[in-house]
Amino acid sequence: MARFSLVVLCSGRGSNLQALIDASHSGTLPADVVAVCSDRPDCAALARARDAGIAVRAMRPRDFVDRAAFDRALFAEAAQFAPDLIVLAGFMRILDPAVVGQWRGRMINIHPSLLPKYPGLRTHERALDAGDAEHGASVHFVTAELDGGPVIAQVALPVLADDTPASLAARLLPLEHRLLVATTRLIVDGDIVLDGDHVVRNGRPLPAPLRLHADGELG
Ligand code: GAR
Repeated sequence: MARFSLVVLCSGRGSNLQALIDASHSGTLPADVVAVCSDRPDCAALARARDAGIAVRAMRPRDFVDRAAFDRALFAEAAQFAPDLIVLAGFMRILDPAVVGQWRGRMINIHPSLLPKYPGLRTHERALDAGDAEHGASVHFVTAELDGGPVIAQVALPVLADDTPASLAARLLPLEHRLLVATTRLIVDGDIVLDGDHVVRNGRPLPAPLRLHADGELG
């Protein structure tokens, strides 16, 4: 049987993409990254994909009349690879609702906050400004609301007295990688689906997002 296929959308560094590629290669994630699509033709994520022999597609938003036209074109490219799941891994654009609707339940995003706290940008700075004792990251199904779709799983870490946005981001990033791989794995295994507005695990709605534990398990 063909392996579960992923198309990953990225705008920048691509470290979360790399975690998916590495997990795919090591067998931790029984899925293949079949293509990487981007709104930034020069981004490091595309170089990582090329290095791994993965197909890349990139287009510039300024070459399209509006957001909807760009999103239609980018997602048409993604659809050519017939992915089982689209993963937004550092894809820094707000999506057109029509495109989001077409991929409902088949598209996830990783966001660097404990949603519903801090959708949007500057999440680390906002957590520090608020005096939060803990911070973290979330993986959620993508809906039309920015960073607002049903949350599948989260990872948390304590905020330290001398943390800066940069130090917090640096400590969180490796946890993001583990969270994204572990959550994607649950979807690949068929354990997690979106049913209406609910995340369902093995037939039962999740009462709260799963948490990534130190042993790497989600529970
Ligand atoms: C990650 O921290 C991810 O959570 C964040 O961008 C970074 C991408 O890093 N995503 C968002 O802020 C989406 N709203 P990466 O390119 O090294 O994976």
